[in-house]
Amino acid sequence: MLVAVPARALTIAGSDSGGGAGIQADLKTFTAHGVHGMSAITAVTVQNSIGVQGFYELEPRAVFEQIESVVTDIGVDAAKTGMLASAAIIAAVADACERFAVPSLVVDPVAVSKHGDPLLRPESVEALRNRLLPLATMVTPNTGEAELLTGVAVREAADLEAAARALHALGPKWVLVKGGHLPGPDSVDLLWDGRAAVWLEARRLDTPHTHGTGCTLSSAITANLANGVDVVTAVREAKQYVTGAIAGSYPLGKGIGPTDPMWRLRAAGVLRTGGPGNPSPSSWPYAPNPYEG
Ligand SMILES: Nc1ncnc2c1ncn2[C@@H]1O[C@H](COP(=O)(O)OP(=O)(O)OP(=O)(O)O)[C@@H](O)[C@H]1O
Ligand SMILES: [Mg+2]
Repeated sequence: MLVAVPARALTIAGSDSGGGAGIQADLKTFTAHGVHGMSAITAVTVQNSIGVQGFYELEPRAVFEQIESVVTDIGVDAAKTGMLASAAIIAAVADACERFAVPSLVVDPVAVSKHGDPLLRPESVEALRNRLLPLATMVTPNTGEAELLTGVAVREAADLEAAARALHALGPKWVLVKGGHLPGPDSVDLLWDGRAAVWLEARRLDTPHTHGTGCTLSSAITANLANGVDVVTAVREAKQYVTGAIAGSYPLGKGIGPTDPMWRLRAAGVLRTGGPGNPSPSSWPYAPNPYEG
């Protein structure tokens, strides 16, 4: 066989028509980690760099069946959830993850978009807490989502540990509370397993173009877990990866531009930036093509 079969990762999330977050960011991130990406779409958002103009939810049954279809045939090494929209979809996802014993489930409890637009109906928080968090290998809230789920306010990095403890009590094996929205020269996250704290620090990058940071981080963790990496290493590597993706973000549209899941390939000169004024054929001079003789 010419090609080794890659690990398999599944994202259960919403579509971002602007391509910067959601399913689109997750699949690009899986690809950048050498993982075969699969998707179960929960909702289709109408979204660009300026905001989320609306979204259309899928039937909960359609979400369940997408998961059933890929997991029972292709199989899955790790999965993540993103936008789940409603309590009924959360229940369908939890049912499917239980029924098909989905391993290494990373729950990114998406509640609002980068622009502050709601992506989760308020009455769904209870379902997230009761149905999904107990099944999670890891939950990855930002500060607002941590407060929504636990009532613990996070105003500075020193508050992250109290939030992590309260989240851990809801059932996930690991908690990663993200400090991207906190002030300070560093962007600090806290990984907690109920015993030991692992602090993850990176210089805060001064850019408005941070659309997709949360999706990129949680799908990088998922890809690393699918690749068989231990949890602490998976999160450390994903933190470095998302920091590079933010450093490589670019302005698109009139609002918040996307982070770049392909930043390593672009930085290495493997992906050439073309355009109508700068045509660039995508040749691949770096390795022989295994399909040609
Ligand atoms: N300006 C920044 N510079 C460096 N790292 C950042 C910056 N903003 C966020 N991060 C990091 O990006 C990751 C995502 O954190 P963040 O708190 O932004 O998540 P989020 O609010 O869920 O994102 P999203 O709105 O995309 O869902 C974390 O590791 C955080 O520390
Ligand atoms: Mg988020």
